This record gives sequence, C-alpha cells and structure tokens, in this order.
Amino acid sequence: MQSERTGNAPARNVQAVSSNITWSEGKITPDERMQLLRQDAATIWLTGLSGSGKTTLAFEVEKRLFMHGHVAYALDGDNMRHGLNRDLGFSPRDRTENIRRIAEVARLFNNAGIFVVTAFISPYRADRAMARDIIGAGRFIETHLAAGMEICERRDPKGLYKKARAGEISDFTGVSAPYETPENPALSIDTGRLGVEESVSEILRAVRPRFRGA
Ligand code: ADX
Repeated sequence: MQSERTGNAPARNVQAVSSNITWSEGKITPDERMQLLRQDAATIWLTGLSGSGKTTLAFEVEKRLFMHGHVAYALDGDNMRHGLNRDLGFSPRDRTENIRRIAEVARLFNNAGIFVVTAFISPYRADRAMARDIIGAGRFIETHLAAGMEICERRDPKGLYKKARAGEISDFTGVSAPYETPENPALSIDTGRLGVEESVSEILRAVRPRFRGA
C-alpha cells in the first residue's frame, strides 16, 4: 500500500522495503512549531573538502544562532560516523547512504522547527541534489566552502592528506576520490581567504530573513 504524503510526510515517493505501512499525521504542523520558535527553519548544507572549515563553521553558526535565541543543531560528518552512520565507509555507495540519512534527519529537525547546519564533504552533485529533494528546495541552503585543494592539504588539520598521499587511506576526497564542485550554490564562501568571523557573518546574513518577529 502506498503511504499518504501530507504535512510532515517524507517529500519523496521512495519505495520503502516494507509493505503495509501507512503515514499517520500528528496534530501539530511544522508551521505551528516554527511559530512557537519564531523562525522559519532551514538547513544550511555546508559542502567542501576535508579541511575547508565545515566543522568549525557549523559549530560557530550553531552557537551564534543559539546566542541570539534561535534553536539550531549542527550535524557533523565525523560525529555522525561515530553513531548513526557507524556502519558506513567512504565508497560512493556508502557516501550516498550517509547523505541520505543525514538529509532525512535534517528534514525531521526542520519539521520540528529547528535550524540545522550540516558539515559533510558531500562530494557528489547527485547526492546533494538528493538531500535538497529530501529536505525541500525552499529549506535547503547549499553553502560551498570553497577553500581549494592546495590550501586544505597545506592545513591538513587531522593529518589525513598526508596519510592519503602515503597510501594509508583509500578513497580520500581530493586525492583518490572526486569532489564535484557545486555549480549553483546559494552561498559560496572562500574559506581559504576569509576568516571564521567573516565566514560566519556571510552565513548569518543568509539566514536572518528567516527569523520571525517577536
Ligand atoms: S562524506 O563524503 O560522506 O560526506 P563525511 O563528511 O561524512 O564524508 O566524512 C568526512 C570525514 O571523514 C573527513 O573530514 C575525515 O575526517 C574523515 N575521513 C576518513 N576517511 C576519509 C576518506 N577516505 N575520505 C574523506 N574523508 C575521510
């Protein structure tokens, strides 16, 4: 039986493995929750190479939103791979599943009225398009952290580029696996040039119209 698509229901008609499942609608709409929290929740989807500043900016934006009285939650790639996605590696297939799960989680948070900031390399265009589809185009703020390979490799905050060059890590983005640059992101921030403060300001400027008046 096909499940109904209403209100909170998943946006896509993905074929579930289970049959005989139905969608039950709650009594509170996403918009009612957003009214309570006085914000039009959205997902700021950071994408970029390892070392481009995703984690730093995600936690900083989360903190700034919180300090201004907004409810936000950062979802970080490495962190999620400790729990929800601990069964996934870095093959294209696993990365796709990683992004699919996170997009579903972001969708739930947004439906709960909460801003989400994601920090995943999300190297494949098709996977980011899937995330946009799951979350909803109107709530998906694709933000490319555009620090180039050279700078990220020079920074190498976790020493992973070094290991990848030495052949100790396979399928490493930028070295032995691709990064597909976003073609038309909502925001592109040159984190090779800009500092944390300026980068955070650019993101907050894009989010500010979503704050609802008291
Ligand atoms: S994604 O490609 O599936 O979006 P994700 O953001 O979850 O990646 O995880 C990337 C993080 O995992 C990197 O910041 C790095 O710390 C770590 N990592 C370990 N192995 C790899 C690898 N082969 N490629 C990229 N990142 C890796």
